[in-house]
Amino acid sequence: MQKKISEIAARVEAEHETLKRTMSILENEIKHEISSVDFSVWKLEFMGKLRDFQSSLLKHFDLEEEGDFMEEILSIAPQFQDRVERLEEEHTEIISDLNGILADLKKFSDRDFPQLAGIRKRVGEIFTSLYSHEAAERELMQDVYLQDHGPVD
Ligand SMILES: [Fe+2]
Ligand SMILES: [Fe+2]
Repeated sequence: MQKKISEIAARVEAEHETLKRTMSILENEIKHEISSVDFSVWKLEFMGKLRDFQSSLLKHFDLEEEGDFMEEILSIAPQFQDRVERLEEEHTEIISDLNGILADLKKFSDRDFPQLAGIRKRVGEIFTSLYSHEAAERELMQDVYLQDHGPVD
């Protein structure tokens, strides 16, 4: 049983590292100055990248929710039910915020170029939420696996 738990925790952590790398690439891209002339080209490309990111995120959340990760955490430490529930709520919030940004971007035409600053801000806020979400998961894993059951590996 312990081996299975460790493998899942390690996989979740490995995905966190991959997601962090993708977020840092996207963060750099959204910082790039673009002109109003390039807005629609930029928009289409950025939407594609954001959709790919959202899809990776959905798979990651599925792994955590359906791949026995949360279940194992609760079987070891049922006292952390509230923390697990909060994390699951955050999954829904983050995906919904991403959907909102994508829906707005889709509606934008060239004349909506001034809205770019707002989009940048919202993307930055999602990444901030996601960084602290993953940090909370790391802390939960430490409390569950390391403290009570020895090192993960
Ligand atoms: Fe999560
Ligand atoms: Fe996660």
